[in-house]
Amino acid sequence: MIPCRLALFSLAGLACVIAVFCGCALPEMPSQEATGANRLELDPDLEPPVTHVPLEYWRTHHREAVSRGEFPENECQKCHDPDTYCNNCHGYVGVKQIESVAAD
Ligand code: HEC
Ligand code: HEC
Repeated sequence: MIPCRLALFSLAGLACVIAVFCGCALPEMPSQEATGANRLELDPDLEPPVTHVPLEYWRTHHREAVSRGEFPENECQKCHDPDTYCNNCHGYVGVKQIESVAAD
């Protein structure tokens, strides 16, 4: 009985160690406050379009607006640079890379 309990304790200990290490290994969430590759570069003077409100919803549902054609992807690039904005998050979440359209 005792060795079995010991084994359970050491398993729990191992799980804690793994959880701590995995926690540390997680990259920083992409945001406007983040640094390095996960930083979302944005001109602070820009006003977000109404489609962005609430932002928590837009963050996870913009795909729908783009694929329904309500908000063409090229329009996004009037405010967002794919190379320093969209793709810094798309790389993090594992979504396809957005191609930069030439500025007109
Ligand atoms: C008129 C300028 C403008 C246009 C056009 C625009 N955005 Fe934004 N977007 C902003 C601003 C400003 C913010 C930051 C809002 C804030 O922090 O409250 C933002 C934030 C976002 C965020 C949230 C990122 C985060 O996690 O904080 C996503 C995602 C996003 N935009 C995607 C898009 C997409 C996709 C399009 C095109 C369909 C688009 N935007 C078009 C100005 C724009
Ligand atoms: C804060 C994170 C974040 C930012 C910033 C962001 N996206 Fe996304 N994007 C996502 C996520 C998450 C998905 C997947 C959502 C889903 O499948 O419903 C996605 C999906 C998409 C898709 C659909 C891709 C597919 O394979 O069908 C398009 C198009 C898209 N985003 C455009 C943009 C554009 C353009 C920008 C920059 C203006 C942008 N996104 C910025 C997180 C982000």
